[in-house]
Amino acid sequence: MGSNLLILIYLLASITFIIGLKMLSHPARARRGNLIAAAGMTAAIAGTIFLYKDENGNALHNYAWIFGGLLIGGTIGTIAARKVKMTAMPEMVSMFNGMGGACAALISVVEFGHLMHGLQSAPGLTVIDAAFQSGLRQHLLIIVAGLVIGSISFAGSMVAWAKLNGKIKDFVFKGQHLFNIALLLIILFMSVYLIGWLPAGGVSLFYIILGLSLIYGVFFVMPIGGADMPVVISLLNSFTGVAAACAGFLYDNIAMLTGGILVGAAGTLLTILMCKAMNRSLLNVLIGSFGAGNKSTGGIKEHGNYKEISLSDAAMIMNYAHKIIIVPGYGLAVAQAQHSCHELEKVLEAKGVEVTYAIHPVAGRMPGHMNVLLAEADVSYDKLQEMEQANEAFPATDVALVLGANDVVNPAAKTDPSSPIYGMPILDVELARAVIVNKRSMKPGYAGIENDLFFRPKTSMLFGDAKKVLQDLIGELKAL
Ligand code: TAP
Repeated sequence: MGSNLLILIYLLASITFIIGLKMLSHPARARRGNLIAAAGMTAAIAGTIFLYKDENGNALHNYAWIFGGLLIGGTIGTIAARKVKMTAMPEMVSMFNGMGGACAALISVVEFGHLMHGLQSAPGLTVIDAAFQSGLRQHLLIIVAGLVIGSISFAGSMVAWAKLNGKIKDFVFKGQHLFNIALLLIILFMSVYLIGWLPAGGVSLFYIILGLSLIYGVFFVMPIGGADMPVVISLLNSFTGVAAACAGFLYDNIAMLTGGILVGAAGTLLTILMCKAMNRSLLNVLIGSFGAGNKSTGGIKEHGNYKEISLSDAAMIMNYAHKIIIVPGYGLAVAQAQHSCHELEKVLEAKGVEVTYAIHPVAGRMPGHMNVLLAEADVSYDKLQEMEQANEAFPATDVALVLGANDVVNPAAKTDPSSPIYGMPILDVELARAVIVNKRSMKPGYAGIENDLFFRPKTSMLFGDAKKVLQDLIGELKAL
């Protein structure tokens, strides 16, 4: 494993990962937390490159390959991260996660080669005897686990990436879930056979398991609705973490082990939290068909009529309000209207209006989407209210201004047990004295369902692209 100094570096790196994760839980500290963890990871990588020695005392020597890989990967990663748009962030996370899974699977492929080579050259022993006697079975177990989990994560993440950027569509066939379960059982059966009996054709079996795991990864993600991808990506992220932890075991590398375990645990927790915030089980996300509901465009619904408001009337109401809560949603991100939103906030505050933001945990399309979006526009963190806090504040609020949000303010979540979002906690905007909703049409949001809020007497619809509407509102307010 290397010197005591290297072990110390790994330990410190592990500590920075934990501190970094903890700091990510608050937007004000998140950036610093990320940098701290990245510094720890850099130290761990540099320590491995320069201080690692194998059991024979040999240091790493293939520096051209190592630094060549670091340069190419680092350059591509930096450019991609700098260029990515906020709405395309889940895509990028998916791609990066897939690369992590591929690395873990490739480590298993390399280590399997080493193991087989070692066993075949053991004098006087058959391969199977050697495996039994030398206690390498656990080693093989970890190799196969890393292979299966890493390749499922890689293939699944690539499909998620392609779906999110529209390169491929959902693909479902009859009996797909049964097919998936059967495929997974075959993979498990083959893995147990390989680890337990190490048959003569073990090498071929190993590569068959690799191939089937890749196919499983594709079929696992294929039927899941494109909009459910953030949950799936988070789940795949936890898979990659576990696969990386397997690699940490193989190399007796505590930094890799802790990093992998933390990613695995954080990904699992995030998946659970997202499902909880949508009031859906993971199984429902994986085999459900959320978002395939009715799409509507008409003006008169079974709910009744909706009321439109003009820009000047909206500006007038806001001008005379004491307290306004802005509710941002996915549409605000699509319109890239965060800067205009912040400008509106400043114009209103200059007129003596108190402005805050109500942040629903799954507003947008990824965890913390709205926090990151508003932080990008320099909105102060202490203006952001979490759902519970905002719900207490709505009754004393003059205007709830809903900007490109839909499902997260849909009262059906509380009143309609047949609704797919029934039970999902929502922002109670209707408790405010007036509700102004900005969106482009009466089309539904992510869950594909009608929103009764738009037809309620207190609600006025302000149609148009969020950025354009906000800029026009600012103009109207300044002119008042
Ligand atoms: P949605 O329910 O998706 O509604 C967004 C609304 O924005 C749409 O109704 C759309 O209406 C409007 N819109 C789109 N482009 C716009 C533009 N340029 N200007 C103005 N409005 C625009 O969003 P939400 O309320 O934020 O809810 C998020 C949904 O995503 C929830 O159902 C949640 O469960 C789901 N989800 C979230 C996450 C995370 S972690 N955030 C993960 C998975 C799923 P028009 O087309 O009429 O404009």
